[in-house]
Amino acid sequence: MLSFMTDRLDSLPLPVSKLALGTWAMAGGQLWGPQDEADSHATVHAALDAGITLIDTAPGYGGGLSEEVLGRALKGRRDRALIATKIGSGDLEPAKVTASCEASLRRLQTDCIDLLQIHWFRAGAPLEDVIAAMENLRAAGKVRALGVSNFGPRQIARVQAAGTGWATNQLCYNLLWRAIEFEIVDACAQSGLGILCYSPLQQGLLAGRFKSAAEVPEGRNRTRHFRSDKELSNHDESGHEELTFATIERIRRIAADLGCPMGDLALAWLLHRPGVTSVLFGARNPAQVAANLAAASLKLDGATLAALNAATAELKAALGPNADLWNSASRIE
Ligand SMILES: NC(=O)c1ccc[n+]([C@@H]2O[C@H](COP(=O)([O-])OP(=O)(O)OC[C@H]3O[C@@H](n4cnc5c(N)ncnc54)[C@H](OP(=O)(O)O)[C@@H]3O)[C@@H](O)[C@H]2O)c1
Repeated sequence: MLSFMTDRLDSLPLPVSKLALGTWAMAGGQLWGPQDEADSHATVHAALDAGITLIDTAPGYGGGLSEEVLGRALKGRRDRALIATKIGSGDLEPAKVTASCEASLRRLQTDCIDLLQIHWFRAGAPLEDVIAAMENLRAAGKVRALGVSNFGPRQIARVQAAGTGWATNQLCYNLLWRAIEFEIVDACAQSGLGILCYSPLQQGLLAGRFKSAAEVPEGRNRTRHFRSDKELSNHDESGHEELTFATIERIRRIAADLGCPMGDLALAWLLHRPGVTSVLFGARNPAQVAANLAAASLKLDGATLAALNAATAELKAALGPNADLWNSASRIE
């Protein structure tokens, strides 16, 4: 049974579902490979039919393609969805913020964005002016709620100092990526920011898509789990490929003992973590939506949570507190 978060984002017209749909992969392209638009529409409809309200996109996903696809998919059903989109780090100055929002509204074929988030902080960007521009958009009724994404404690402090009523921080969080537990979870709690967890299946690794690092496709093997000699890699580390796959095997065994798919266990674990407002899984077809929804009714007892903590602690320590999934010189401070 899908549940809803009601204590944050209460300015929105619908309650926020604790499982949400991410639409990055619906842009296909080099990172995700071919994606049929009809499958994307069916995926969005399956999510809405199941009671999912929150759907996340960004201008940066396929240069606006993900927003366009979502806009077309929501034709006639806009009132059933809460749309979250973003302002890219290249648009962090007031005039560009407004232009980016207007372009998103056009692509999404709507007159109001439910949650507008700063996608990534950029060092040197005039954050306080950007915040003021976003608050103007909210005051003008073009945006209902404001959030950030990939913000660390010092960046959160600047947002809290400059603005009022910011709702969420969207962050990478999953059993193979627990970096936000070092300090960001507490910083969010202290600032009243709900956490939207992205890549909760570590881009398919936790759904058991790949048996070894060699099988992981180009667009997904550029995270800091992997060696830096990959085609699209931006970091300069040796990665933790063996440990990552050993950790997946430990999680897979815990899931097998419980008699549930590993992906369900990974999503359910997040639903049991403190501070989590919603878990944004990516899906490319209705079958993936249906499979992932089972996580909503999976109750994990203390022994299972302790076993998952133990199974993933070594990888958490090896990857350390840098919460930037892709870069050694962290953009998250
Ligand atoms: N704020 C940010 O900086 C940021 C960064 C990343 C993501 N996000 C958001 O978070 C959303 C989700 O993250 P994500 O898409 O990166 O990763 P994810 O949700 O961890 O993984 C999505 C992938 O997992 C596989 N999958 C999903 N359900 C499955 C199932 N039931 N069985 C088997 N495989 C399954 C699919 O792989 P296949 O493609 O192989 O089918 C899917 O594309 C994005 O769409 C985006 O909205 C935000």
